[in-house]
Amino acid sequence: MTAEPKILEPVTPEEAAVFSRLKLDALPRHVAVIMDGNGRWARQRSLGERIEGHRAGTEGVRAATRTAAQLRMTALTLYAFSTENWSRPRREVAALMSLLESFLIKEIPELMENNVRLVASGRLEELPASARNKLAHTMETTAGNDGLVLNLALSYGGRQEIVDACRRLMRQAAAGEADPETLTPQGFAGSLYQPGLPDPELLIRTSGEQRISNFLLWQIAYTEFVYLPVLWPEFRRIHFLEALEAYQNRERRFGGVESVRP
Ligand code: FPP
Repeated sequence: MTAEPKILEPVTPEEAAVFSRLKLDALPRHVAVIMDGNGRWARQRSLGERIEGHRAGTEGVRAATRTAAQLRMTALTLYAFSTENWSRPRREVAALMSLLESFLIKEIPELMENNVRLVASGRLEELPASARNKLAHTMETTAGNDGLVLNLALSYGGRQEIVDACRRLMRQAAAGEADPETLTPQGFAGSLYQPGLPDPELLIRTSGEQRISNFLLWQIAYTEFVYLPVLWPEFRRIHFLEALEAYQNRERRFGGVESVRP
């Protein structure tokens, strides 16, 4: 039996004000986040090492996950480690992997309490075996949860995901199991890492940078982008609520002329 998490209850007056303006029946089903600014946060505090920023960033991960679960969203995708991040200094990569491993174990009670199912997207075979084992363990433990899907993008690249989908489809075609002439965008999406998830309606990037950095290139065709000035280690529920309000004030047209407000 999985417990339903409690519905989000605003705590501060700022949260209550934003929350009261949100249309709870028009929230995005899927939010994707580029968690940026850990290094700058550490530098601003003269903590020296960027890894101190990553460590503090786990608090943002917890806040985002809890908020999405308590707002009954379908999915939250977090860009935790990109294919390009392998080129960072060895010490930083090792520290990020060890942070990931401890997060995967320590966070299980919190995931269970919030009815969250963990999945992952990326070239997971490139992760160290110890991280892969812990990932498998947490995914298995949370597999029965039917609330929020927390999708961790790990060793993830948007172009690599598209290439991996092409490889799968080409292998099927070579084996006579797929016909290239009948391939559709929907059919192609079925070969991506998480074919069961809806495309994100909202993408948040922290730290003020306005780039997509090889994230979810296929899935963001009609996604609204919200850039927040806050650095990721400072990201809390109020920032998530503010991004949702900004999203709800957008007009979405999906290439047509009729505007659709979320
Ligand atoms: C970008 O900040 C962030 C990352 C490369 C990694 C994100 C990782 C975490 C938030 C750690 C915890 C996550 C999990 C899932 C355990 P940056 O270093 O590029 O920041 P900068 O641009 O200010 O230097």
